[in-house]
Amino acid sequence: MSRRIVVGISGASGAIYGLRLLAALGDLGWERHVVVSRAGRRTILEETGATIEDVRALSTRLYPPEDIGAAIASGSFVTAGMIVAPCSIRSAAEIATGVTAGLLTRAADVNLKDRRRVVLMVRETPLHTGHLRMLTTLSEIGAIIAPPVPAFYAMPRGLDDIVDHSVGRVLDLFGIENSLAHRWRDEPGTSDLIGAKTHDQSERNQSTHGDCGL
Ligand SMILES: Cc1cc2nc3c(=O)[nH]c(=O)nc-3n(C[C@H](O)[C@H](O)[C@H](O)COP(=O)(O)O)c2cc1C
Repeated sequence: MSRRIVVGISGASGAIYGLRLLAALGDLGWERHVVVSRAGRRTILEETGATIEDVRALSTRLYPPEDIGAAIASGSFVTAGMIVAPCSIRSAAEIATGVTAGLLTRAADVNLKDRRRVVLMVRETPLHTGHLRMLTTLSEIGAIIAPPVPAFYAMPRGLDDIVDHSVGRVLDLFGIENSLAHRWRDEPGTSDLIGAKTHDQSERNQSTHGDCGL
């Protein structure tokens, strides 16, 4: 598999997921081709204080959202796929219909048409029936809908643990080995995927959950 991936950051709440994802992919040695929508640029600033230059520093290459002639606008640019983190309802709707108005949604469209993995961390709540129908369409055309929903069995100690878990589970969807996600009752020594942090969390779960069957 190509160790090159496209990452989109759209204007849904949860900009931190995109930033953390880029940092993790960089640590793991992946080439990161990144596009941030106009609204995404704003939410990154409002929610984290980071600027587009901070995003550029986390990227192998950062493309302007209007540049529909960029490499990632073509399926001929071979990648492992694309992650949109977070994914707004607006961007999801564009991808679902194929009416792509900018580079972020165009890149998702070409990855889907070339049958590559596309994971959308859709964040909105509550969802009306139109949203749900649109998300169903996305699933039918091959996208994976992976909302950033906290896993409380992981006994997160704070925001970093919550974000890391969701980012780790998205990396799992690409088969990218990581120790960010908590592995439920995965004991030390049973998997190469488990890091020290996971062992630590596992111990906490043993004492907290007992035999509650989770
Ligand atoms: C602070 C802030 C938080 C937002 N949160 C969400 C959200 O969680 N989900 C969503 O779909 N839109 C959210 N929006 C609205 C989107 O940014 C807006 O629909 C925008 O047009 C999306 O454009 P994009 O898909 O090109 O990024 C938020 C906007 C702001 C300013």
